[in-house]
Amino acid sequence: MSIQTKTLSVQLAIKTREVRESLSKIIRNYEGFSLQKDQDAVRVDVLVLEIGSDPATEFETIRALLKENVVGSLFLTSSRTTTDILLPALRAGAKEFFPQPIDPDEVKGAFHKILIESLQSTSGGEEQASLGKIFSVLGAKGGVGTTTFAVNFATSIQACAKDKLVALVDMNRLVGEVPLFLDLETDTNWEEIGKNFSRLDAAYLQSAMVRHSSGVYVMPAPSKFDAEAHLPTGFLFQLVKSMRQFFDYIIIDSGMYFDDNSFKIFAESEAVYLVSILSLPCIINVRRLQESIYSSGGVANGKLRIIANRFEKKAQVSLAEASKIIGSEISMTIPNNYRLAMRAINNGKVVAEISRKSDVAKVYQTLAESVVESAVERPGGIFNWFRKN
Ligand SMILES: Nc1ncnc2c1ncn2[C@@H]1O[C@H](COP(=O)(O)OP(=O)(O)OP(=O)(O)O)[C@@H](O)[C@H]1O
Ligand SMILES: [Mg+2]
Repeated sequence: MSIQTKTLSVQLAIKTREVRESLSKIIRNYEGFSLQKDQDAVRVDVLVLEIGSDPATEFETIRALLKENVVGSLFLTSSRTTTDILLPALRAGAKEFFPQPIDPDEVKGAFHKILIESLQSTSGGEEQASLGKIFSVLGAKGGVGTTTFAVNFATSIQACAKDKLVALVDMNRLVGEVPLFLDLETDTNWEEIGKNFSRLDAAYLQSAMVRHSSGVYVMPAPSKFDAEAHLPTGFLFQLVKSMRQFFDYIIIDSGMYFDDNSFKIFAESEAVYLVSILSLPCIINVRRLQESIYSSGGVANGKLRIIANRFEKKAQVSLAEASKIIGSEISMTIPNNYRLAMRAINNGKVVAEISRKSDVAKVYQTLAESVVESAVERPGGIFNWFRKN
């Protein structure tokens, strides 16, 4: 992912020569800003204006400029710092007021804030329309079928959206099993990728991921302890965010891995699937996890979907009882079909490859169909070539 560089235009309306020179020097040396000489420009991102001999009229002009959106941000300066200048200056909509003589650090600080605001608003805009959808999958306990769910969900999405790019990320450090479930040989993993953190572009990700015959791109977890690998803080969250630019759907096998990264990823997810079986300890875990996930603040109500895996109609704990204990609906049940699930795992196949018409394969297909829609195509870069191959 390349960081978009953007240059903001700055105009100086300053009469005092030393003040003008001092500001020009600061701005010329500040990457991200350029001084605009053209007085007839339609719009300027930042205007620095000196209050002169007729403040009342100048403040009126300033209000009009801001109202017409001719000026993005306004900074004011004056040799006087009395309240009769400062108060109307702030009321007129000035973001900062620089006393004279100019303090370069104060000016740089104010420009820095503007740059950050501008970058944030740009990336926010991009996100609206065209980022891929994240689906997180986590387990209420070990061994409940989280990886089975993630793998079959991802491949089912790919099966009903053939021209979309689907990624499957294994977050289970040291115990990741996604490659085994899909019979994939690979020596890459996200820890290796983390060593090249500055290069999260499409070409690099494509070379670092392994492709399953279904079309799904897999990002395996590291399987060995590497004392040398020091991933930057927040790396996994950044990685998933970068992937959203190229992939239409990103399914994450979060296993039972909970840290800051995972909570941030849950917050960005279209849905968080919490896989459980209908045993009492597991149901109690569901209730606890649900509370933690909702109290983390990032996951909106209704985005957490509880899945009852290995479901038997005649089970000791009924669906209704389980819902009551958990305090919310169980969104979906997946039939218990141990023979099929084991055959799939032991052959490195997904359930639809073993039996497309099986009860379990049909459930995954229905779920995939419900999430696949006419997603906006991502730019894709080098991945684009693979869309229809
Ligand atoms: N619908 C199903 N019916 C019967 N058995 C199932 C079903 N789904 C998964 N299983 C079985 O449950 C077991 C655990 O599956 P899986 O490895 O996917 O769970 P997990 O929660 O990812 O485990 P771990 O905590 O080890 O990562 C496997 O033996 C799998 O075959
Ligand atoms: Mg697993």
